[in-house]
Amino acid sequence: MAGATRPAGFHTGPLLAARTMALRGRDVVSIRDLAREEIEAVLAEAEKMVPFAEGTKATRPLDGAIVAMAFFEPSTRTRLSFEAAVHRLGGSCLTIADAGATSLRKGESLYDTIRMLSSYADAIVIRHPSEGAAALAARASDRPVINAGDGSGQHPTQTLLDLATMREAFGTLTGLKVVLLGDLKYGRTVHSLAYALGGFGSEIVLTSPPALRLPDEYREEVRRHGAKIVEEPDVRRAIKDADVLYVTRIQKERFADEAEYRAVAGSYRVDRALLDAGKSRLIVMHPLPRAGEIAPEVDSTPHAAYFRQAFLAVPVRMALLRQILASGRRGGFGR
Ligand code: NCD
Repeated sequence: MAGATRPAGFHTGPLLAARTMALRGRDVVSIRDLAREEIEAVLAEAEKMVPFAEGTKATRPLDGAIVAMAFFEPSTRTRLSFEAAVHRLGGSCLTIADAGATSLRKGESLYDTIRMLSSYADAIVIRHPSEGAAALAARASDRPVINAGDGSGQHPTQTLLDLATMREAFGTLTGLKVVLLGDLKYGRTVHSLAYALGGFGSEIVLTSPPALRLPDEYREEVRRHGAKIVEEPDVRRAIKDADVLYVTRIQKERFADEAEYRAVAGSYRVDRALLDAGKSRLIVMHPLPRAGEIAPEVDSTPHAAYFRQAFLAVPVRMALLRQILASGRRGGFGR
């Protein structure tokens, strides 16, 4: 949101009401935009949203609100769970699901597309292949902008639902040992998640093919933010004593050269035999889609948390949208 500033000190107050108003009108471009207390307030509200997300209870705080989905890159879960969240809150969506069907094809700039869209909707959810596109959109829009994935950059709302999944499984987010397995170089979900886990003082174990290690700048930032980080290339050793095994897909579409991709393709796979090396309460998470990294035989084990994780996208995005669009005393969504 152009020119938006975070009101000073608002997340130190003890009142829930004050905390839940804190996100009103704000952009969420990076997970760094959310203080730990704000993340906790979204997760607490998301827990209460579960029956509304399942459709067993009804609520309409976004009655009359319009949320634009500007998706310039493929998406299944993220777009559909955002749309489900808007509908479950009584709002409606304007959706771009195919960049090829927009005036970008005629040479319109992303800036102009978003600026125009912000006059049609109360908030904009954007996914784009270029890192930094969501930040640009936030400058172009005078309505709140939510980043639903910008290239290899950030995916902050995925992190919120990842944290919700861990919180539901363990009742807490503090003191967890989390293994991040897979493409830590190009994977935006792990870039956002690692930072957030730092804020909860997690122990993070990085396990990736050597060519796909977490970039140094992320590693340093996450460490400074409070995480203990170790690297353990052997998955079996990495998952010993771990609470969470967070698996990611190799981001084939981000490789500049096909040979570089082929050199790492299929280099790790989680199956039942591997999980025998972990604790009985170890949960396996994945932002999905999976492309062979988790054997289907894992689905029927108590370790599998990825389908629950995909469902929690709806109550978490409901809570976030409600907090961002909560109408103010003078009315007007997100104003
Ligand atoms: C992820 C993404 O788009 O970054 N998917 C998702 O949003 N659930 C992960 C991926 O594509 O590998």
